[in-house]
Amino acid sequence: MSDQRVYNFSAGPSMLPLSALERAGSEITNYRGSGMSVMEMSHRSKIFMQIFAETQEKLRRLMNVPDEYQILFLQTGASGQFSMIPLNLMSRTGKADYAVTGNFASIAAKEAKKYGAVNIAADTSDRDHSYIPAQDQLKLDPEASYFYYCANNTIYGTEWQYVPETGNVPLVCDMSSDILSRPVDVSKYGIVYAGAQKNMSPAGLTVVIIRKDLAGHELPYTPLMMNYQTMIEKDSMYNTPPCWCIYMLGLTLDWVEEQGGVAGMEKLRDLRSSMLYDALDNSKLFKCHAEKGSRSGMNVTFRTGSEELDAKFVAEATAAGFVNLKGHRKVGGMRASIYNAMPVEGVEKLCDFIKEFDKNNG
Ligand SMILES: Cc1ncc(COP(=O)(O)O)c(C=O)c1O
Repeated sequence: MSDQRVYNFSAGPSMLPLSALERAGSEITNYRGSGMSVMEMSHRSKIFMQIFAETQEKLRRLMNVPDEYQILFLQTGASGQFSMIPLNLMSRTGKADYAVTGNFASIAAKEAKKYGAVNIAADTSDRDHSYIPAQDQLKLDPEASYFYYCANNTIYGTEWQYVPETGNVPLVCDMSSDILSRPVDVSKYGIVYAGAQKNMSPAGLTVVIIRKDLAGHELPYTPLMMNYQTMIEKDSMYNTPPCWCIYMLGLTLDWVEEQGGVAGMEKLRDLRSSMLYDALDNSKLFKCHAEKGSRSGMNVTFRTGSEELDAKFVAEATAAGFVNLKGHRKVGGMRASIYNAMPVEGVEKLCDFIKEFDKNNG
């Protein structure tokens, strides 16, 4: 790692693979002999269309996306999907199931209520969103148009360790903060989506993987730009897509492929997260927010129990080159986001730092 770079534990936007950044840097004024930057290209040009098609193809290969699914590159932000999903899917029965396991699922459920009847299939706020409900705790409505959940709760640091079983009700999943970090059987889902700014690309791109037959049933007042069918028909090019972010996604996917694909990412993720949880569990000072069995492999939330000591930890860590460790205000304490691009060495060094801090302050 170059000398000036820090270990950035930000929840997002967050670290990107160094090789992707360096490649982008080397091509920034002249993309492969074209005489122009990707930022300056027409989205309809042959050269950009090739970047677009190759990126779609790489993602399809890496995530093993079946043919009956379309990969969309949109600009709505992950939050835009909170509206787009009910606008397009709610019409089937007028109701939908939502599992509220954190902040973003809660916002999504509130947004969906504007368009239909929302059944809260689970709500983990009783224990401050520190756990994921078990399958038999889900209150499922067999007539729901879809079942919505958030695979990884970025703020609280919990993650679903199983795919909910919902019979014929299509699964819709926000994978913003764990996509590409572990294998996903896309064929079990109706829609998988993710804001790109954690494991994929800079902010500005939202990837939606949708089973095509679910589109085309939008509510009549659905805005043009929020209609999946329009975007499927135009292959995400109804308007100008986020060209630079799509290019950057392609570079990240090259790196993922070089690391052994999604299975390779999962090995690294398990290594990083087990090291970090072990260091915290073996300390005198630190307690994790998430309950065992529900812990996230991407966002590790922890605290000492003393706000003063937490602040000291964050300040000393920052000075030592471990930045953005302050927890979200809803949880307090600390949060280490250890996405795909976080080097294992960064976590090793953070663990050493945690042990030293524990020894000196415990
Ligand atoms: C799981 C999850 N969903 C949704 C969002 C919202 O993303 P965006 O800012 O792209 O709307 C975030 C942002 O951190 C997130 O972590």
